Amino acid sequence: MRLPSIDDLGDISGKRVLVRVDFNVPLVERDGRLVVSDDFRIRSALPLFHDLQARGAEVTACTHLGRPLGEPVAKYSVEPVREHLGNLIEGVTLLENLRFSPGEEDNDRAFGVELTDSYDCYVNEAFGVSHRAHASIMVPPTLIPSAAGPNLAHEVETLTGLLTNPRRPFVAIVGGAKVADKLGITKVLVNKADTVIVGGGMAFTFWKAMGLTIGDSLVDDSRLNDVAELLATGRVCVPNDVWALPTGSPFGGGGTESPTHFVGDIPDGYMALDIGPESATTFGEILRNAGTVLWNGPMGVFEDPRLAAGTRSVAQALANSTAISVVGGGDSAAAVEQFGVASQMSFISTGGGASLELLEFGDLPGLRALRGE
Ligand code: 3PG
Ligand code: MG
Repeated sequence: MRLPSIDDLGDISGKRVLVRVDFNVPLVERDGRLVVSDDFRIRSALPLFHDLQARGAEVTACTHLGRPLGEPVAKYSVEPVREHLGNLIEGVTLLENLRFSPGEEDNDRAFGVELTDSYDCYVNEAFGVSHRAHASIMVPPTLIPSAAGPNLAHEVETLTGLLTNPRRPFVAIVGGAKVADKLGITKVLVNKADTVIVGGGMAFTFWKAMGLTIGDSLVDDSRLNDVAELLATGRVCVPNDVWALPTGSPFGGGGTESPTHFVGDIPDGYMALDIGPESATTFGEILRNAGTVLWNGPMGVFEDPRLAAGTRSVAQALANSTAISVVGGGDSAAAVEQFGVASQMSFISTGGGASLELLEFGDLPGLRALRGE
């Protein structure tokens, strides 16, 4: 996909450049103040900032942070992000949270005009939010010379390339809790990939469609037909064993009960929360022989050490495989970090929803804006 690049902006020496970044990063409270707990998205933007400064430009960045719903909310101030950024690079100004103004999410043209007003050029380096038709994404390209940042361009190339010309076998792993959220992308992947592995809470809608009993595991009865169609392709691989806890037993923070292993059927009074060891072995086998792997969504509640084995085994299998490994989505990216294998992945997308939408629809509102469409 042809997107305008920084070079297309020409000589930007002495120019004021507005960069839309996605610094929607997690914050934690430490010693009574909020600090950035994962700066992957911030560090990702540094090469662009350095490049723009080396070209003599004056750099201002803008981002959203959380969902303050159009009004100033103290805990969503970018101040902690600004401070963190200031420790990584000098001379880059960061504007206050764009979503403090209702005009941002409303894609209000007047808000976009005001935002763009004091700048000569615009760069979109916010892949993670380019699926949102918000003012800071949509309006500047209609007003001033605009370009795609290098990460955004690379993300788009990598993800679209995956669907057009993957090294085979192409294996996709889809997980997470909600089948409804992942149905669209799973439909696309079933047609593009050789095998689609389904794990996480969404797998039990597949189990139910296969006639297995699932106890009190997550299920979306409104999607049973869709899921049955996916299964009929013969390319979907679901877990055959699980770790489960008694219904109501706490997990994901607190809770000490040991999970029980079930193969095939899950009795009433139990909720499956991770894939089991047999499935981990089967999935590992498939991943070992893959040419390309796309991973989106965890296999279980991996924040809970009792329910992390399945997700860890997938992360480890990917780390050990020679396949081109592409990790998309916040949870999977967090998982490869947590299990210490992030550096062994070929590519980790900074965008969750955006990477899924790009894979599903082949384009995003923010990319159309940059192309002047
Ligand atoms: C994200 O973190 O997924 C992006 O920054 C988009 O945020 P949003 O889902 O609040 O639009
Ligand atoms: Mg999100």
